[in-house]
Amino acid sequence: MAALSPSVSAVSPRQTRILPVHRLNSISPPQSIAEWWASEQQSGSAEAAAVAEAAELLRTGNTPVGFPTETVYGLGADATRSAAVQGIYRAKQRPRDNPLIVHVDSEDMIERLLNPPAKDTEANGPKNTKRTIPDIYRPLIERFWPGPLTILLPNPPNSILAPEVTAKLHMFGVRIPSSPFARLLIHATGRPLAAPSANASTKPSPTIAQHVYHDLQGRIDLILDGGPCGVGVESTVVDGLSSPPAILRPGGVGIDEIRACPGWEKVRKAYKDEALQLKEIPPAPGMKYRHYSPKADVVLFETGSNPTSISRRVNADLKNTAVGARKVGFIRTRTWEYALGLAPPSSPPPSGEIGSMTSFTLEVEYHPTTYSTIKTTKTIYDIHLGQKTEDIARGLFAALRAMDLEDVDIIYVEGIPDNEGELAAAVMNRLRKAAEVEIRKGQA
Ligand code: TXA
Ligand code: MG
Repeated sequence: MAALSPSVSAVSPRQTRILPVHRLNSISPPQSIAEWWASEQQSGSAEAAAVAEAAELLRTGNTPVGFPTETVYGLGADATRSAAVQGIYRAKQRPRDNPLIVHVDSEDMIERLLNPPAKDTEANGPKNTKRTIPDIYRPLIERFWPGPLTILLPNPPNSILAPEVTAKLHMFGVRIPSSPFARLLIHATGRPLAAPSANASTKPSPTIAQHVYHDLQGRIDLILDGGPCGVGVESTVVDGLSSPPAILRPGGVGIDEIRACPGWEKVRKAYKDEALQLKEIPPAPGMKYRHYSPKADVVLFETGSNPTSISRRVNADLKNTAVGARKVGFIRTRTWEYALGLAPPSSPPPSGEIGSMTSFTLEVEYHPTTYSTIKTTKTIYDIHLGQKTEDIARGLFAALRAMDLEDVDIIYVEGIPDNEGELAAAVMNRLRKAAEVEIRKGQA
């Protein structure tokens, strides 16, 4: 009977549509977001229609929407409705104890979150004084908002935020994105949007719409495609209410810049970021450090490692892992030469374009015993992220994903100094989470 057949009773995957909003995502509007939205709606453009459709889905549906911010793509849901926020955890398969960042278009919206309407029973009680953003955050807000900085605020009693947003913690994380497009979407929706990065849990964060599609196709209905994100790593998360204040996650705003703000001179790093220890046998994938992780094993070389010893180590790996690692990737930054010099003269030259991938095949001979020789063919992939930290941050996640699409088995990455401030610390933090092994200077 047709009604009982599995194809009828199974939940069919969703059709995930990608709607372009490139023009809206590249404008710096001369007027307020409200005026901009009003004029866009009047113009009746296809991009305005896409935003209106997304806003409607966000207001009424329980399936999250992918959208661009200046840092990475976010997966947004109405932060005030539990069913909608649960949809984020479901689509990403995110652990439910990992709280979400709330995105707002203005400080007014934050004030409304801090001062929810009182319950009926309290209406006749003593008038509460108005809650405001604590002063400690003022210098940071003046300098970095709108922008890639998330602050933690106390979640008030009767909060209108869905409890899933804070994972039942007493604080909520909030930011005003510098992307005018993200603020436009929030304004058009008229709600604060809970939005984690729009990757499947454990995968590198998405910096183009196709990354979101790759991870979440069939799980969400709509992705707004605004082109590549400008920053490439996520926001810095700070807690100004602990003493001394703390940085919970390094990101788009540098630690030194934060330290220069009054009240933040003694800011401490509350994230674990020790270099991983060299291990001859990498710990199994899926162990504690994996987070921004491609399928491949990632071996991260600390900056300044000796090129000869790096080559020696890579060559030894190529032979040791002759059976397992048939596809080997290199992600270069400041000093490594093309494919660590492994390219035979007949192979295609590097494309020279920052962030693009070149590949070639390489015959490797190894001797499991003195008298036997085994020949294998490897495919080598190479991506140069460029010299500038901004370019490295912008291209990093895309490079890890590009290698994943080719099913690369092992990726060697050239680290950068993490004491350069700015984005360098964020880049190295993400790389350490992606890597099984970090090889320090002198250890290669
Ligand atoms: O740039 C970004 O921050 C991007 C874009 C989409 O805005 N979002 C993002 O969200 O990276 P997500 O969920 O991938 O990372 C949120 C981080 C997590 O490390 C989480 O633990 C922390 O913020 N966080 C959020 N709310 C928190 C809270 N109440 N207490 C402590 N940490 C919190
Ligand atoms: Mg994330």
